[in-house]
Amino acid sequence: MKHHPVVLYIFLGLFFNLTASRKQVNFLNESKRLTHAIIQGEVRGNGSLPIEDRNSHLLVELRLTRDDRPQSIARTKIKLHNNSATRSFILHFKLKYPLSKMNPHNSYVLSAKIRNGENKLVYIGDLPVPVTERKEEKAKHLIINVIETPAWHSNIAKLDLLAYKVTQLGGTEEAFTSELYTNKKPGIYTCVVCNSTLFSSKHKYNSGTGWPSFYQVAVEGNVATNVDRKYGMTRTEVHCDKCKAHLGHVFDDGPAPTYMRYCINGVTLQFYDDKNEMK
Ligand SMILES: *[C@@H]1O[C@H](CO)[C@@H](O)[C@H](O)[C@H]1NC(C)=O
Ligand SMILES: *[C@@H]1O[C@H](CO)[C@@H](O)[C@H](O)[C@H]1NC(C)=O
Ligand SMILES: *[C@@H]1O[C@H](CO)[C@@H](O)[C@H](O)[C@H]1NC(C)=O
Ligand SMILES: *[C@@H]1O[C@H](CO)[C@@H](O)[C@H](O)[C@H]1NC(C)=O
Ligand SMILES: [Zn+2]
Repeated sequence: MKHHPVVLYIFLGLFFNLTASRKQVNFLNESKRLTHAIIQGEVRGNGSLPIEDRNSHLLVELRLTRDDRPQSIARTKIKLHNNSATRSFILHFKLKYPLSKMNPHNSYVLSAKIRNGENKLVYIGDLPVPVTERKEEKAKHLIINVIETPAWHSNIAKLDLLAYKVTQLGGTEEAFTSELYTNKKPGIYTCVVCNSTLFSSKHKYNSGTGWPSFYQVAVEGNVATNVDRKYGMTRTEVHCDKCKAHLGHVFDDGPAPTYMRYCINGVTLQFYDDKNEMK
């Protein structure tokens, strides 16, 4: 008997918004012997597509994110050549992936990349796609909004594995491993990914924790926070506002005058000497 893979069509209804809409999506249907599922959706962006070159394309990938660099589960590539150039665009995609590779305990991201003929990134977008337990859900429609690729984006690929795990996957370096922990020189601390100014030596102090600690940020607005409920604790996560790199956490047991303690992973920072930052 010839084997026909049974295919489940999923139309997801998520908007690209990292914090707001993490609706749950079901990939598994026990009542049928599904081998593959299909995600259909749209990639939207403002601006014009790189259509002049035959090699310009959209790549949509389903990626597994563990505590390492993401691993591709499925991908589809769409040539852009012969599309029309307008001030905004909508591209339709269809991605087929093997259910055998999906596991509700892992996290998955759908990523869209638009490259021009020289293989340079022009637009990027990510959509977290949580997988739930085996139960059915109504069909929805999926939209990834892509944004123009910022100049710092290529730095992510150049990070060493630890800096990658901490900044991109929310990991933590081991205490007392960063040489910046004991650094007392006057200067500024910038983001390792996008070089945004985050902290100053003026506000650095010895917290005894083993991680570089500051009682305030250098430039208001350059550092943003989120509630973090991982590991059964409620903590306030700290990230770079510009590139969203995870930096560490902030606690309210710091010294005067703010009584705050920004507990920052040294691998997320770059230090620049600057005598103006003398206390
Ligand atoms: C799952 O299987 C049942 C029974 O065959 C079917 O009625 C239902 O539509 C399927 N769900 C999806 C999402 O395909
Ligand atoms: C695509 O564009 C090329 C020139 O850029 C043209 O020769 C070709 O006919 C076009 N194909 C379609 C399907 O429009
Ligand atoms: C495109 O522009 C519209 C209208 O200003 C806005 O609502 C939307 O968020 C923008 N999309 C992206 C991906 O920037
Ligand atoms: C990063 O920022 C520092 C401090 O503003 C500056 O001195 C340095 O030139 C910047 N580096 C890059 C690569 O832009
Ligand atoms: Zn940054």
